[in-house]
Order: sequence, then structure tokens, then C-alpha cells
Amino acid sequence: MNVIMISPGYPVEMSYFTKALAQIGATVIGLGDQPTGVLPPAAREGLAHYEHVSLTDDDAVLAALRGLGQHVRFDQVECLWEPYMLLAARIREMFGMPGLTVDQTVPFRDKERMKQAIDAAGIRAPRHASATTVAAVWEAAERIGFPLIVKPIAGAGSADTYRVDSAAELSDVLPLLRHVPEVSVEEFVDGEEFTYDTVCADGRILFEHVLWYRPRPLQMRLHEWISPTCISLRDVSVPDVQGGRQMGARVLAALGFRTGFTHMEWYRKADGEAVFGEIGGRPPGARVVDLMNYATDSDLYVGWAEAVVHGRLSQPLERRYNVGSIFKRANGAGRITRYEGLDRLLSQYGEAVVAVELVDVGAPRKDWRASVIGDGLIIVRHPELQRVIEMTERFAAEFQMYAE
Ligand SMILES: Nc1ncnc2c1ncn2[C@@H]1O[C@H](COP(=O)(O)OP(=O)(O)OP(=O)(O)O)[C@@H](O)[C@H]1O
Ligand SMILES: [Mg+2]
Repeated sequence: MNVIMISPGYPVEMSYFTKALAQIGATVIGLGDQPTGVLPPAAREGLAHYEHVSLTDDDAVLAALRGLGQHVRFDQVECLWEPYMLLAARIREMFGMPGLTVDQTVPFRDKERMKQAIDAAGIRAPRHASATTVAAVWEAAERIGFPLIVKPIAGAGSADTYRVDSAAELSDVLPLLRHVPEVSVEEFVDGEEFTYDTVCADGRILFEHVLWYRPRPLQMRLHEWISPTCISLRDVSVPDVQGGRQMGARVLAALGFRTGFTHMEWYRKADGEAVFGEIGGRPPGARVVDLMNYATDSDLYVGWAEAVVHGRLSQPLERRYNVGSIFKRANGAGRITRYEGLDRLLSQYGEAVVAVELVDVGAPRKDWRASVIGDGLIIVRHPELQRVIEMTERFAAEFQMYAE
């Protein structure tokens, strides 16, 4: 099986998927804009061939493939890096390969088209409208009512996303959005936020995963002092998440998704109602695939590769642990000077702490807005949810990093 892998080394987790494809017997042809010399080791191990191309130049990529196609047969193309999902779909169509077409890919990339497809399937999404002018935003606000969310149609990482509670606030926010060509105006949904992630093959869900964000991602993004935490739930049969699971299955069917990783976000209102947030035809970021691995004592990179190449998992994935991640942001600017409170927590929780990856003392601190990982992360796990809640809360509150 010859698999084209788009961007096999960037971001770095792509290299783990690339290597996994090779591990399960695929011949992997990489297409990426990294020079060969800077490909991560796992990508190099996994690749049988690499073409260095500019991924933003579709025509150049297609030309390179036409050249290669004289010598090798392509069976499949995979892309887990969101910006190039449409390119992957074009390649599929050009070579008649299975998987999402261009038309099927658009709703995963364009939030307005996504919501139209969700609405058409009768799935509960926030009331919404898209707007390209100030007048259209006001009109939408009138129709939808406050509180509102205003955000870019092609957003990521909660950038340029605002909660707006009144007309006065909307007047304040509009100038901040001048550089955003098209915005989505949405009903503000009050509640908890979760993900619903899957690995599918031929329209069957082989692995399901629910992550609980604490606090809500917009709060993480607004307040530097917050340590964002996420909890991967061991028991997805609890009543609280059934609405999200059922919605997730309906969303996949509505969008015609059949094979690969998916990452959906959804809200659970206080009255229990599940409301759709968004979906990507890719794995979640922020190290969540590693949380899945700690949860199952298994390898989801390989699980994904088996699903997309063989259409099945070689072994069932059983969730044994609740797994929590805590992301830290140092206090102060400049270089990291010290950690406070870490040793005590580590000695107290012992083996429950499975990863500690922090910016070293002496190194410059990171831009907390650029990546949720910020100045580092800690991963903890335990079969009991309450225990993981406690650990995530304590690492968030009692462990501090300082910079100056
Ligand atoms: N309609 C809404 N009601 C309540 N909160 C919302 C709404 N839309 C967005 N938010 C908040 O803003 C965050 C970011 O929005 P969304 O997930 O749509 O965009 P994004 O920028 O692609 O996010 P990310 O890439 O961080 O997942 C959400 O996780 C949520 O906290
Ligand atoms: Mg989101």
C-alpha cells in the first residue's frame, strides 16, 4: 500500500503518524515544505520517499505528483494537518483515490458551511449568521439577541473571539475585528465544554474519546493567570456525555465522514442539552493523542494507521485511566528563574504523574497566546475521576513558574 502523507514532519506529531503508517506495513511518500534536513527523526524513519514542495502551491504539488506517478502507484493520501486538508482532497480527486472529496472537505474547513450542514441535518447548533460588514453584524445581533459570540469564520485557537453581552459592548468590539474579513455571529451558549473525538474506518467508529476542558477554552485564552487543564474521561457511558456522543455520531454521518481521525467540540448546557461547537477531520491538538495513549496504555498513532490502511484495529482500545493535563504559564516576562511547589506535588502523587515537560530554568518563557502548551505541561492519570480532578486543580493552583 503506497500512502501519500502531506506534511509528514510538521507539526511534530505528524511524524508519529508517519512512522506509524510505516510500522503497519505501508510505504509512505511524504510531501512537505520542510527541507529534508529538518524532518523530525520519526518522519525520516517512516518515509520511503520525500518530495520537498511548497504546500501552499497546489499546482506545483500536483505537478510533482504527476511526475512521481509515472513510476509509482498511489493508493491513498492522508493529511492530518488542517490547512492542507483541501489539498489532500484535490489530490484524491485527481488520482481517483478513496476518502473525502473537495466538496466533502469544505464543511470541515469553513465554519459557516459546517453549520449549514449541521442545521440541515437537524442537529442543535448555536443560532448563527455570517457577516462581512458592520451593518450585517448589527443585523445578526438584533436577530440572535445577546449574549453573543463574534469570531472569525476561519478561526483557530480562539483568536479574535469575543463574548458580547450588550449593544455597547458590540460597539467596542467591532473596531477590533476590522482585520477579519468574515465573522460568525453566534448565540452564546452557556455551559461546560467537551470534545468528542473518534477514529473511524469505513463509517464505523472504532474508538471514541471525550475530553473535558476546564475552564472553557475562551477563558483559557483570555486570562494569562489561568492554568488550562483538560481531562480525558475513562468512562464515556456516564449520563452527562451521552448527548455529545449521540450528536457526534450524527454529525459524522451528516458530513459523510468515513475513515480517519475526527475532533468535535460541543457544549453541555446546565439543563443537559448538548449543542454543537465545531468539528475537524483531524486529531485534536494540545497533546491529546498522547492523553489517549496514557488512557489506554496503547498507541493511537498506530491505531489510526491501522484504521486508515487496514480498516480495523489489531487490538481493542480499552480506556483504563482518566488522564489530566495541566498547562503552565510563568509569572513575569523574560527567562524562567524558578519553579515553586512542584516537588511537593510530585512526591505526593508519585506514579500518578506520567509526564513533566517544562521550559527549563534559564530558558526564555514562551508566548502563552501562541500555543496552549505555553511554558510546559504535566500529565497525570488515575482510574478514579475525582482523583484526577483533584490533581489537575492542585497542579494548576499550587505549582507556579516564575520568569524575569
Ligand atoms: N457560540 C458560542 N457560545 C459560547 N462559547 C463559544 C461560542 N463560540 C465559541 N465559543 C468559545 O470560544 C472558543 C473558541 O471557539 P471555536 O472553537 O469555535 O473556535 P476556534 O478558534 O477554532 O477554537 P480552537 O481552535 O481553539 O478550538 C470555544 O471553545 C468557546 O469557549
Ligand atoms: Mg474550537
